[in-house]
Amino acid sequence: MPFIIAIDGPAASGKGTIARALAAHFGFHHLDTGLLYRATGAKGGDPVAAALGLGPEDLGRDDLRSAAAGQAASRIAAIPEVRAALVDFQHRFAAQEPGAVLDGRDIGTVICPHAQVKLYVTASDDVRAARRAAELGADPAQMLAELRERDRRDTERATAPLRPAGDAVVLDTSTLSIDAAIADAIAAVARVRAEG
Ligand code: DC
Repeated sequence: MPFIIAIDGPAASGKGTIARALAAHFGFHHLDTGLLYRATGAKGGDPVAAALGLGPEDLGRDDLRSAAAGQAASRIAAIPEVRAALVDFQHRFAAQEPGAVLDGRDIGTVICPHAQVKLYVTASDDVRAARRAAELGADPAQMLAELRERDRRDTERATAPLRPAGDAVVLDTSTLSIDAAIADAIAAVARVRAEG
């Protein structure tokens, strides 16, 4: 059975960086599921058709990282039929040997509830806004407002809202360096692998 690491958390919490590092460390496949929602939102038109028709060319667009693409993704992500259209792809990805790391908002709760390891990565609002501002070269106050709006929509939607799974290990990266956060995440995964 493939080993699955599910990583959830709010925007700019560090979950993507940690997911990539875990995949490299353990030799697993990595899927940034936010990219599926960003690409769906960026396609325009009927979002359900867009989600069903996603191809490699959609995922490779270089405008997907912007704050506007994040907001559009968060909006279409509240539509249950859009989420349903993306489930098969994520399940197939998670079934790859020897294992996979998926990061998003509902991986540990909905997509891979049987993942061997679940991490919930978080950080204070101010820290997340400062990180995103540095990354995008934008104003921290504007980023803070943008992140809060997106977090509210992602946590308050009826279908697959962002929340920690009951059995998730919570990792608060507010005061951690990238290296320290990665080391903590590797240790959490290694503990489970040693038990199994
Ligand atoms: O992780 P991200 O910032 O790239 O995600 C963009 C948006 O996509 C996020 O605000 C909500 C949505 N999303 C989701 O609903 N479920 C996921 N598993 C991943 C992302």
